Amino acid sequence: MFKTLLTLWLTLAVGSLAIPTRTSYTDILKEVLKVVEKELDFFTEDYSAINVDGLFGLRLGQGQLRETLKECGQHGCDQFVLRKVTELEERLDRAANAALPYVETEDPDYYERFLATIDQPYITTYEPSSFEGVKATVGNNANYGEDNGDACYARILGTYKENGRFLPKCNITSDCFDYMRQTGTSRYFITHQLLYFILLEHVGCKENVEQSLGTKIRDIQDTFCAGIYEESKQISKSGQVNDFLRDLFLEQTVLCGSLGYEDFMRSDWIKMVLEWPDKRLGCFRNQFMKQLADITAGKNENKNGNSIPSVKSGKMKADDIMRSAYEERSSLSTMRKLQREKQMKEGCLSHTSGLGFGVFCTYLRFLVRYIPMYMF
Ligand SMILES: *[C@@H]1O[C@H](CO)[C@@H](O)[C@H](O)[C@H]1NC(C)=O
Repeated sequence: MFKTLLTLWLTLAVGSLAIPTRTSYTDILKEVLKVVEKELDFFTEDYSAINVDGLFGLRLGQGQLRETLKECGQHGCDQFVLRKVTELEERLDRAANAALPYVETEDPDYYERFLATIDQPYITTYEPSSFEGVKATVGNNANYGEDNGDACYARILGTYKENGRFLPKCNITSDCFDYMRQTGTSRYFITHQLLYFILLEHVGCKENVEQSLGTKIRDIQDTFCAGIYEESKQISKSGQVNDFLRDLFLEQTVLCGSLGYEDFMRSDWIKMVLEWPDKRLGCFRNQFMKQLADITAGKNENKNGNSIPSVKSGKMKADDIMRSAYEERSSLSTMRKLQREKQMKEGCLSHTSGLGFGVFCTYLRFLVRYIPMYMF
């Protein structure tokens, strides 16, 4: 059903009508590398404030960096890129390891449950695929139950306790299976369903499960990612993604992208996401905090470049901000807990920044994988 892509053109040309040129892609690659480094600077300074979900994003990214190095070894790549990625991966490894004890202290139970997802680089099975010709629809059930979902995850990770004892890993109850295969789901519900079938593979339950279910895990992932791709297209239709949907968009991209669903590596999307991290801090910020911080720092400047000193303009701004914060909250109320978001310094978001990091590393791997085929 899914056709393997042999050339870069098909995927990269989806979003932009122009045929990519040598400079445009090496430029994008350099941009991506810069952003990865900047974000890593942020995390290495602030690793004590990260949480489990943020660290998961970093480990996904680290897996992608390792795979990038492998691509370099197999297909060749620019020496500068090779050196840079090697250095970044080593720095990331140190920061992620150093963050572990802090993450544990902050939430020991959650840490214990999900340790297998954050204690080492997270390598996914990458099979280059395209959704060309696949019809998928976007579901409308976004009502994911985090507690049920987490219990199902714990059962496969071997961290589910029953009668004071841990059950052996790869435990799939029929309730969990039905829940995780439910159709018509969307947003974080479907991404968490997909994650379930990614974790299954990661912890070594794949053969076991495929035999007992008579289904290939990859087929399940195919279906989920085809649906998720439709949704990503939907939320980025205007060429931009609403602030409060960016975290979701990043989650969609990193989960499907790192499995090899290369439709997510559209050049217009790469360019769009490159604009999202804070230029100064390197992290993904809460827009509300960002605006507030800018006001207190006197950064709202008028057209002549002078900062506006009056209390009045500050107040007007504040009203706007309160309104947008309110709107953001009402649309997010059902997702807040699920995302387990945590504020880091200056309004930087742990979950979103971790995912964003994973996304950039996925882009990097993709670019390194294909660019040498016709550039060197
Ligand atoms: C999963 O755990 C339940 C107990 O919660 C047990 O009854 C069941 O046999 C286990 N299933 C597998 C496949 O290990």
